[in-house]
Amino acid sequence: MSNSKVKEILKDLDIDNKNGVIDLLEDLNEGILIVDKAYNIIFYNDHLANIEFLDSENVIGKNLFEVFPDKSAINSTIYQCINTGTKVVDKLEEYFTYKGKQVSVINTTIPLYKDGEIIAALDLSKDLNHYNKLLKANFGSQSKLSTSGKTHYSFHDIISNDSEMKRTIERGLKAARQTSSVLIVGETGTGKELFAQSIHNESLRNHKPFIAINCAAIPETLMESILFGTAKGSFTGAVEKRGLFEQANHGTLLLDEINSLSIGLQAKLLRVLQEGTFRRIGGEKEIASDVRIIATSNSDLMDMVKDKTFRLDLYYRLSVITIEIPPLRDRKSDIKLLANHFLEILSEHIETKAVAFTDQVLNLYQGAKWKGNVRELRNVVESSMCLLDDETFISIEHTPRYLREEAVTRSHEEPTKSSRKKSLNDLMFDYEKSVILEALKNHGNNITKAAESLDISRQSMQYRMKRLGISKSDFVLIHKDDM
Ligand SMILES: Nc1ncnc2c1ncn2[C@@H]1O[C@H](COP(=O)(O)OP(=O)(O)OP(=O)(O)O)[C@@H](O)[C@H]1O
Ligand SMILES: [Mg+2]
Repeated sequence: MSNSKVKEILKDLDIDNKNGVIDLLEDLNEGILIVDKAYNIIFYNDHLANIEFLDSENVIGKNLFEVFPDKSAINSTIYQCINTGTKVVDKLEEYFTYKGKQVSVINTTIPLYKDGEIIAALDLSKDLNHYNKLLKANFGSQSKLSTSGKTHYSFHDIISNDSEMKRTIERGLKAARQTSSVLIVGETGTGKELFAQSIHNESLRNHKPFIAINCAAIPETLMESILFGTAKGSFTGAVEKRGLFEQANHGTLLLDEINSLSIGLQAKLLRVLQEGTFRRIGGEKEIASDVRIIATSNSDLMDMVKDKTFRLDLYYRLSVITIEIPPLRDRKSDIKLLANHFLEILSEHIETKAVAFTDQVLNLYQGAKWKGNVRELRNVVESSMCLLDDETFISIEHTPRYLREEAVTRSHEEPTKSSRKKSLNDLMFDYEKSVILEALKNHGNNITKAAESLDISRQSMQYRMKRLGISKSDFVLIHKDDM
């Protein structure tokens, strides 16, 4: 669709900021989508139809969530935009169309207003493949996001100096030499995908497909057909379609966030793993499956087994080899190493003179909780680099505010913790000192009277004061204000 046609359509759109929108659309060659407040698609251009492999006639007039069933409230920029009025710029979105096509795009979404009220959202999409430049600038050269069928990471990309982590890498290398299922467990951002891709790339299947699917992002109704495919006529409008088990044949299928798989689908997955065959939805034919399964989970599946939300038999099938990636806060030696690594690789894309971090920043990193693990560390380094002018060091003022606040909270908590760690002798010392200071205070700093009140001799009192480091000038000074 030409830009003049877009202009024409927008002329009929009754909005306040029409001219601004028309200006924005000039000279653009991007996927364009406009969705009204009720999430009905009112505009959908041919470029977007090409990216998403859909026909605009089948899309215009339909509800957004019908066409993109997995665009949940959390991951849809349109939803965010209509609900909060916030403009979203250059956000990576990976989702499935109702036909099961996986799409990876970079989106910019803006709200459209009428009489000061949001009436619609306009979404500009760039196909990820044509958007490598910006992607590199945002994520650095090491960003090797998984798009359908491709892998980029290998074990060389896993940076670590930690002994536990080295054992984990060795386990990963052993797993690569076998064909059993692998379960990778770790908090968000610890590198589960990095490990999964590395195992595939190191395995004999490395020239075969690697297909990744996020079980948390796909609605249950769609998931079954995505995994197993559909046979013609099995339900209204169903077409002959290969599922991921067929697409990944002889290769590896990564079931990300397996903990989100419904109990019903767990049973179906177990059947494939046990029998090595499956049927397309509505199909009669048993299809043989030769797919290596790698599953990831960020929660303890055994806890889910106890709660009866995860099948024990499936757990055993999936966890033939289990790889547990330790959180970043438990591998302190990796923090500085990874921070320097990210500074180095991001410097290729972000213009900066920074060569290192100040000790203060490294100390702050060392004590941080890193709930988002390595991904969070990378983002922190990247955002600090973006704040630099001519400085050669990343210092505390370039560090995100929330990390500094976290450090302040920790410093308030620490005295309590350290007192809990004190030995019995230290605790006795503190107690005796406080009792003697209290007695001195109660008797106007008169040593003889204070000693009597404690039923000890003056000599013993003086001996203890010396041992406890209480000099006369000290206790007078200490209690001067209270007297
Ligand atoms: N040891 C490491 N060395 C280098 N980069 C790492 C390491 N661990 C993680 N990363 C980087 O951190 C980011 C997050 O990694 P990844 O996507 O594999 O995490 P994840 O465990 O799958 O997270 P989630 O549970 O949120 O999906 C990626 O950019 C990855 O390259
Ligand atoms: Mg992941």
